[in-house]
Amino acid sequence: MQIQDKEKLQERIRQCDEHIIKALIQRMKLTRELAELDQKYHLPLLTRDSAQGGGRGGDHDGSREDNPSEGLHGYLDTMLRDCPDETMIREIYQTVMESSKKVRAQSLFSCNILLVGFMGTGKSTVSSYLVKALGVEEVDTDRLIEQREGRSIAGIFETDGEAYFRRCETQLLAELQKRKNLIISCGGGMVLQEENVRLMKENGKIVLLTASPETIYGRVKDSRERPLLNNNMNVEFIAGLLEKRRPKYLKAADIIIDTDGRDVADICEELIEKVAGSAE
Ligand code: S3P
Repeated sequence: MQIQDKEKLQERIRQCDEHIIKALIQRMKLTRELAELDQKYHLPLLTRDSAQGGGRGGDHDGSREDNPSEGLHGYLDTMLRDCPDETMIREIYQTVMESSKKVRAQSLFSCNILLVGFMGTGKSTVSSYLVKALGVEEVDTDRLIEQREGRSIAGIFETDGEAYFRRCETQLLAELQKRKNLIISCGGGMVLQEENVRLMKENGKIVLLTASPETIYGRVKDSRERPLLNNNMNVEFIAGLLEKRRPKYLKAADIIIDTDGRDVADICEELIEKVAGSAE
């Protein structure tokens, strides 16, 4: 091979890189513009398919309708037919789609979203959905405390008591103060301490999920992981505790979303619209 041939190939590769970078810059810019447009005209902000794990080759970054990437999956199949690098290219495409989701999320909100509410109001379900739909990171305070302590919440309550668990919650919130663009799913009692509410207010938007005692009972009745309900698994007890805590939940909340009789996609759509609309 002549040295000129090598140089020609290198030059063509360099041109390819330039196309890729330019296209990526343009893609992210358009993604931001699309997010702004959807927000302005109250169009759907989340993609149902991607959050529910559907779609192939990664999903897209836009609303359900009129999504330019939607038609690309068939096109991608055609373009990649007989391509020796198909798997690798699909992986790269998937990464671009994931990054696009993040860009979209960042244009809709830049704060953390703190999910609060009574046990069984759907905090974990909503959190998982948002993580998939927006490509953002999640912290589940109960799970993180369990991991750190190397035992279950029930185990912590049994051995060290509720007061110890509440201290773990406050410490964790203090540690999360510096992080951004997170979905923080809080244990149901997180708003009980004023110090926690103060930390949460500084840390992001507090979204309260609500549900009736009957709905909550239906969602938690088979669980053995909630020590406060273990010997009190009935609608009357739930209604009483909920009533007692209600003022604290309401005082803490920036945004309130009712979850009764609704599917997770609807709940999350309302949530993101309200969070995006409330951004300073
Ligand atoms: C609690 C709720 C639980 C967990 C602990 C105490 C509460 O979290 O933190 O059992 O006081 O309401 P979930 O709301 O995720 O069940």
